[in-house]
Amino acid sequence: MPVIEVRHLRKHYRGKQAVDDVSFTVEQGEIFGILGPNGAGKTTTVECIEGLRVPDGGTVSVLGLDPQRDVRELRQRLGVQLQESRLPERLRVGEVLGLFAAMYRTPADPERLLDLLGLTEQRDTAYRRLSGGQQQRVSIALALIGSPEVVVLDELTTGLDPQARRDTWDLVEAVRAEGVTVVLVTHFMEEAERLCDRIAVIGSGRVVAIDTPAGAGRAGRRRAPHPVPAVGAGRPGLAQGPARRARGRTARHAPGGDRGPRGAAGGDVVPGPR
Ligand SMILES: Nc1ncnc2c1ncn2[C@@H]1O[C@H](COP(=O)(O)OP(=O)(O)OP(=O)(O)O)[C@@H](O)[C@H]1O
Ligand SMILES: [Mg+2]
Repeated sequence: MPVIEVRHLRKHYRGKQAVDDVSFTVEQGEIFGILGPNGAGKTTTVECIEGLRVPDGGTVSVLGLDPQRDVRELRQRLGVQLQESRLPERLRVGEVLGLFAAMYRTPADPERLLDLLGLTEQRDTAYRRLSGGQQQRVSIALALIGSPEVVVLDELTTGLDPQARRDTWDLVEAVRAEGVTVVLVTHFMEEAERLCDRIAVIGSGRVVAIDTPAGAGRAGRRRAPHPVPAVGAGRPGLAQGPARRARGRTARHAPGGDRGPRGAAGGDVVPGPR
């Protein structure tokens, strides 16, 4: 059974059809990319997978769960890096990770994550004093802190310097090597080619192609002058002890809020932290 099944997904915001009949499946252990230009509907699609947006139509299943109905269980098993997120400014990096680790049944080791993400030196630094790239790394750490079975990364490496980007790619590969299924939203074909087994290319809320990155690239070039949109172009043993299969809460970066992650013009319900 696929880990994620999206069937005929539809979502509109005040007359704007953001997602229009999107269907795809993601298999266990796969790195599945979602590519497309700005406004294509990528984030809306993954927010429906995460249970942060209520679809207008279609069905979504993640690990056999309904993201709306089974949100508590999903939070234990799905890690999320939101495209944009903010954390309380005064919290130190180590405190943030400790706080989120405490919400999970079987958290990863925060020290190990800090090390893997090159944040050890920032452990005692307040979030507001981090650079943009360092804040981005914290949000990646939070997506992984619960030892999730599935992780959704929305614009994983945007804002990272070239070395940090390569390090993050290595990290994603290590995550997958442990059997974690990864959904990666990206604008970068180079990133998709490096990491993804398959990609869905999305344009104007519709799936344009589902293929290997190489196949999608070839098809995109044939469609020139509008090529594949997109594109400007180990976590070994994170879990503590043998309970790696255990589940974690979603890294939801705004505990206590009840609005959509980007201001809910769609009027969606965002589940509370527990
Ligand atoms: N909260 C919202 N309220 C109203 N319209 C929205 C909202 N969020 C997204 N949209 C619209 O829905 C469409 C799809 O947006 P979405 O964020 O899903 O695109 P995206 O593919 O993730 O784009 P990007 O690459 O810029 O992140 C866009 O036209 C956008 O303007
Ligand atoms: Mg987006």
